[in-house]
Amino acid sequence: MVELLPLSEIAPQAVEALLDAAFGSDRFGRTAYRIRSGAEAVPALSFALVEAGALIGTIQCWPVAHRSPDGVVTPLVMVGPVAVRPDLQRGGHGRVLMAHMLAAAETEADGALMMIGDPEYYGRFFGFDADATAAWDLPGPFEQRRLLARAVNGHGLPTAAGMIGPR
Ligand SMILES: CC(C)(COP(=O)(O)OP(=O)(O)OC[C@H]1O[C@@H](n2cnc3c(N)ncnc32)[C@H](O)[C@@H]1OP(=O)(O)O)[C@@H](O)C(=O)NCCC(=O)NCCS
Repeated sequence: MVELLPLSEIAPQAVEALLDAAFGSDRFGRTAYRIRSGAEAVPALSFALVEAGALIGTIQCWPVAHRSPDGVVTPLVMVGPVAVRPDLQRGGHGRVLMAHMLAAAETEADGALMMIGDPEYYGRFFGFDADATAAWDLPGPFEQRRLLARAVNGHGLPTAAGMIGPR
């Protein structure tokens, strides 16, 4: 049986081992890590999938912000990493994690959602797109087509130029 739990109930070293398996242990240089540098994951939007006592999937969300050149700060919630144990990928676990996070975000998110990910997955199943992010910038290299966003819980998306970083 697969259980969905708050990520706070999982030992941090088990989460790190799963992320190493899904993304490689060189993952820390990625732009996504720079965006949320120093932030703590949002407990109400971070979950784990556990099967027979073993961690098989995680999703984490982070408080970040869009800062326009004229100083306007818009809070956003950064989604990811979403990770499923490599031998269990493409079995629906990623969709379960995302659907649960999105349901929680409908009442808990204090900003619209953004992420770096494949539009072929996050657009097709979860309503993310790169339409609002054309003028956004990140503190590292990225492909604009993979800079995705989605309104949630009454929070719209800034479309002005701006840098995404920690709050
Ligand atoms: C991306 C990931 C979270 C998806 O979870 P999953 O449990 O493997 O995928 P699901 O079973 O929920 O979804 C499967 C469907 O999504 C598609 N899919 C999965 N990953 C995809 C991707 N990166 N791009 C396009 N389609 C993808 C599959 O083809 C499948 O489609 P189908 O049902 O038509 O066959 C998982 O594969 C993973 O951990 N990958 C490595 C880490 C990563 O890249 N994370 C995302 C960046 S934050």
